[in-house]
Amino acid sequence: MNRHPSVDQNLAAFDRRGFRNALSSFPTGVTVISTLGEQGALVGLTANSFTSVSLDPPLVQFSLARRSPSLSAFERSGVFAVNILAADQGELSNTFATPSDDKWRGVDFILGRDCGCPLIEGALASFECTTHAFHDGGDHVIIVGLVLRFERLVTGEPLIFYRGSYRTMTPDAVSPDYTATNEPRILPPLNGFDPWTAG
Ligand SMILES: Cc1cc2nc3c(=O)[nH]c(=O)nc-3n(C[C@H](O)[C@H](O)[C@H](O)COP(=O)(O)O)c2cc1C
Repeated sequence: MNRHPSVDQNLAAFDRRGFRNALSSFPTGVTVISTLGEQGALVGLTANSFTSVSLDPPLVQFSLARRSPSLSAFERSGVFAVNILAADQGELSNTFATPSDDKWRGVDFILGRDCGCPLIEGALASFECTTHAFHDGGDHVIIVGLVLRFERLVTGEPLIFYRGSYRTMTPDAVSPDYTATNEPRILPPLNGFDPWTAG
């Protein structure tokens, strides 16, 4: 196998772009993770670093950039909710990946019964959590949540993120009349940029 030479070089020469590109070969779902800021302000961001951790106790985790303005809200509130986005929620993913004080305008949600954080209507599944632990994750903080309550839609398809683009599992996952090919549909980021893999 023809491995990239940068893996053997020191950190100064580390190929960050190549590293990101290699990581982007791992397809993931897309989540919006919500919490509460000061005076109950609603906070949310798009994250594809979400993963399951433990069944007993029920733990999940995601990693949050240290430079994210949302970090202090996660540290202070001690609660968060994970919303797993459906195939038709790519626009929401872009909204919550774009820094703004107004991300929740026009978004359909309810406040979770157990954690009080926003649960987005139409999400495939949601997990209400209390914060179990913060761990060092380099330029990210790994946030582990103890799941208090979860919900799951029995039907629906996930939004997938792969190699910097949104994808769906089947051609008709977003638009029922999409019949062009039998290939899974590739959806470019809706507002033309990709803050996670850019820069
Ligand atoms: C598909 C996708 C996945 C992302 N995953 C993460 C992630 O796991 N952790 C993270 O810190 N930022 C992630 N981001 C970037 C954040 O959503 C983005 O920086 C956002 O502005 C953070 O919100 P804030 O600026 O309000 O704190 C992702 C962006 C996209 C488009």
